[in-house]
Amino acid sequence: MKQLLEGKIAMVTGGGAGMGACDCRTFAREGAAGIVIVDLNESDARAVAEEIMAEYPACRCVPVRCNVSVEADVDRCFQVLEQEFGTLDILVNNAGVTNKIPFDEMTLEHWNFTYGVNITGAFLFAQRALRIMKAKGYGRIINMASIAGHVGGLTSGVDYATTKGAMLTLTKSVAKQGAAFGVTCNSVAPGNIKTAMEKVFGSDWDPMAVPMHRLGEPEDIADVVLFLASDMSRYMTGCCLNVNGGLFMQ
Ligand SMILES: NC(=O)c1ccc[n+]([C@@H]2O[C@H](COP(=O)([O-])OP(=O)(O)OC[C@H]3O[C@@H](n4cnc5c(N)ncnc54)[C@H](O)[C@@H]3O)[C@@H](O)[C@H]2O)c1
Repeated sequence: MKQLLEGKIAMVTGGGAGMGACDCRTFAREGAAGIVIVDLNESDARAVAEEIMAEYPACRCVPVRCNVSVEADVDRCFQVLEQEFGTLDILVNNAGVTNKIPFDEMTLEHWNFTYGVNITGAFLFAQRALRIMKAKGYGRIINMASIAGHVGGLTSGVDYATTKGAMLTLTKSVAKQGAAFGVTCNSVAPGNIKTAMEKVFGSDWDPMAVPMHRLGEPEDIADVVLFLASDMSRYMTGCCLNVNGGLFMQ
C-alpha cells in the first residue's frame, strides 16, 4: 500500500521531544525519505534521529542544533537541508515555549523571549521554506498554534496565548503567499497534550474538564499533522484544526 508521505523530505522544529518527536516518527512510518530534526537540545534531536533510523532505515534523519529565534542558526538549518537533501516538501513549525507568569509580573524580557521562539522562529522558517517550495511548485507548511490562541491565556501566560493567536494569522498570511504555487499552510491548535510542556500547567488542570475526559497524547496531534502534511488535505489552506477532545469548539 502506498504510504502517505512516500519519498518526502521534511523539517520539524522542536523535533527532539514531545509532539515534534512524535511528528518525526509518524512521518518516517508513512514513508518520508528524509527529516531534518531541528532542536535547541542537540542530544535529544540526535537520540530521536537514531531511534527513527533504527526502526525505519529508509528514512534518513539529520539532527541540527538550532535556536529557532536566531537567524544565523536558522540559515544553518537550511544549509544542512540543501547539502543533505537539496529540497523540502514539508515544514512543521513546532518549537515553542510557555510559562505561567502572571500578567502583572511579566517583564519585557519574558515577552520578547516567548515571541522570539514562538513567532519570530516560525516566520524565519516559513519564509525560507516558502522560497524553496514556491520554486518547486509543491509544499506543506504546518504551524503549531494552541487552544490558548483562540480563548486567551489562563493556564498559560498572556505572552504565550498572543503568540499562538499570531500563529493563526501567520498561517493565513503564508497560505495566501503560497496558494497559487502549490504550497499549503495550515495550523493545528492542540488542547492539553501530555508532554514536558503540559507539566508546566501542572495540577491545576483537571482532565475531567475535557468533554472526552482525558488529556491528549502526542499521537492524537501527529495524526492530524500527518493529514495536513499529506495530499489528503490538498484543497485546504489557511485553516486551523482544533484537536482538543471537545474542550473548545468552533
Ligand atoms: N503540550 C501542550 O499541551 C500544548 C498545547 C498547545 C500547543 N502546544 C504547542 O505545541 C508545540 C510542541 O509542544 P510540546 O508540548 O511538544 O513541547 P515540549 O516542551 O515537549 O517540546 C518542545 C521542543 O521544542 C524545543 N525548543 C524549545 N525552544 C527552542 C528553540 N528556541 N529553538 C529550537 N527548539 C526549541 C525543546 O527543546 C523541545 O524539544 C509548541 O509550539 C507548543 O506551544 C503544546
